[in-house]
Amino acid sequence: MSNDARVIVALDYPAVAPALEFVSKVNPEQCKLKVGKELFTRAGPQFVETLVSRGFDVFLDLKFHDIPNTVAAACRVACELGVWMLNVHALGGREMMSAAKEAVAKSSYQPRLIAVTILTSMNEVALKEVGLAGTPKEHVLSLAILAQQSGLDGVVCSAQEAHMLRDRLGPEFQLVTPGIRPANADAGDQKRIMTPADAIKNGATFLVVGRPITQAGDPTAVLRQISQEIEQVTSAMM
Ligand code: C5P
Repeated sequence: MSNDARVIVALDYPAVAPALEFVSKVNPEQCKLKVGKELFTRAGPQFVETLVSRGFDVFLDLKFHDIPNTVAAACRVACELGVWMLNVHALGGREMMSAAKEAVAKSSYQPRLIAVTILTSMNEVALKEVGLAGTPKEHVLSLAILAQQSGLDGVVCSAQEAHMLRDRLGPEFQLVTPGIRPANADAGDQKRIMTPADAIKNGATFLVVGRPITQAGDPTAVLRQISQEIEQVTSAMM
């Protein structure tokens, strides 16, 4: 099952109770939900199944990165959970991504499979330290091309990179962008932020939004406001 919501709320909570408190305030038509390493390590697959059983599209953000056989096996199990989207690290290489894609394609339920290219926490110096010469932007582009060639459905990228990737990778490739901040919101620790409207104009398919929604006094009001902003800009683009 899938719906039209383009906002993916990052459920970055340390425990199940506050996460479920938020989830009880929203419905599956308003947003999709992202479960990352912290909450998954705490609450496990059962929690993911709870969200799926409540009708939510769940993005399982575990960024698998291992030998092809292991990543394929992990993807197969993730498919069984009924998630809507899952991801792997593009740095795992073509063979690993192709194996992941094959595992998803053979599953009875097939979530979207996307790749993380270069973590936004890595700058040019950090890349050089791990033996990668060149700028993050260059690596983002070549890894996104590799992900597409390996049969993946899209990548996670910053909204600043979305325009370049949309141009190079075509209209169908899914661009999932974090670092989104409504015009009046606190940036927090995000360095390169963009408003929901600008991210959509730049070619983003889905927007990952965490704290501006989860830490708001009235999370549903902020979610509604962001969704309206997206709707306005998409209808103006048609
Ligand atoms: O609270 P905030 O809106 O900054 O949350 C953004 C979410 O997107 C977090 O779950 C964060 O881990 C994730 N993310 C990110 N930057 C990336 C990849 C993922 O902020 N490059």
